[in-house]
Amino acid sequence: MRRAIVAVIFALGVVFAIPAFAQIDCKPGEVVIKFSHVVPPRGHPKGDFARMLAERVNAEMNGKACMQVFPFSQLYDDEKVMEALLLGDVQLAAPSLSKLEVYTNKFRLFDLPFLFDDMDAVQRFTSSETGQGLLDVMSEFGVVGLGYLYDGLKHFSAEEPLLVPSDGEGLKFRVQNSDVAVAMIEAMGASAQKLAFKEVYGALQLGVVDGQENSWSNIFTSRFFEVQEGITETGHQLLAYVVFTPEEWLESLETGVREQFLTIFRETLAKANRQAVKTSEKNRQRIIDAGYTVRELTPEQRQQWVDVMRPVWGQFEDEIGKDLIEAAEAANETHGN
Ligand code: LMR
Repeated sequence: MRRAIVAVIFALGVVFAIPAFAQIDCKPGEVVIKFSHVVPPRGHPKGDFARMLAERVNAEMNGKACMQVFPFSQLYDDEKVMEALLLGDVQLAAPSLSKLEVYTNKFRLFDLPFLFDDMDAVQRFTSSETGQGLLDVMSEFGVVGLGYLYDGLKHFSAEEPLLVPSDGEGLKFRVQNSDVAVAMIEAMGASAQKLAFKEVYGALQLGVVDGQENSWSNIFTSRFFEVQEGITETGHQLLAYVVFTPEEWLESLETGVREQFLTIFRETLAKANRQAVKTSEKNRQRIIDAGYTVRELTPEQRQQWVDVMRPVWGQFEDEIGKDLIEAAEAANETHGN
């Protein structure tokens, strides 16, 4: 049977049991497309995108190509997946833009706190000529950015109620592998610890860190809300991904196969990005429905977060480039009006 089901159950870190998921066997002669990511396979913009793409590739390219998805950091975490991509061990990866600073400073742009007012502004910028141009930044490493995948804005959660940045003083927050995030947390008078995504739940539960910042979809689907006092709707930073593929692999495909794959890819990415905001809202509501605390900020409280975090831009302006920052800011509707 072509679609042999292999149940995979594994434990992440200390306590987080992962449910089973299906994996397909590829037939001899098919181009194998492996997509490794770190989030669950359903209910999350990245998990949904990977799953929908695999469903279409496996149905429409049966006999020519076969796509396998490895969620939950099962194959690689984001720190290792770019190496795997460069070595040709996986053909698709979509790390968070915050995790690319070992390769380029340009994507630090997307980590600047309070850069984008909302996801519409993100979409305007990423679809602009400047935003699209950034997809090529990694070409010197032999990987092509096929497109942006959106998750949502990020929010803080902690062991203590957070309304203004000074409430976070002295706390330790998990951050992604991003110096901008570290500077932002330190601006609050808090300390930052870089940790891989798969370690976050355990670190929060065991009190290794007191808080974290993430999208509604990550906070809900990885159940961080269960081990935090509450979540504060700061929307202070973007969580988005670029889907990368090795250039050599893409070029090695027969023209017809490559074109069919890229067409399916583009259509599925557009669909996933149309769904992302709705998915994010649903996941926010699910946390509230489960009885957990979500704090909304008054405009005055929000301004305090902006005042504390916005000066961090100055530390990174030279390496990112003033022009690039201005181009991104211009995508906000209020900008210049
Ligand atoms: C994180 O590490 O918090 C995120 O990048 C995980 C993800 O891929 O959404």
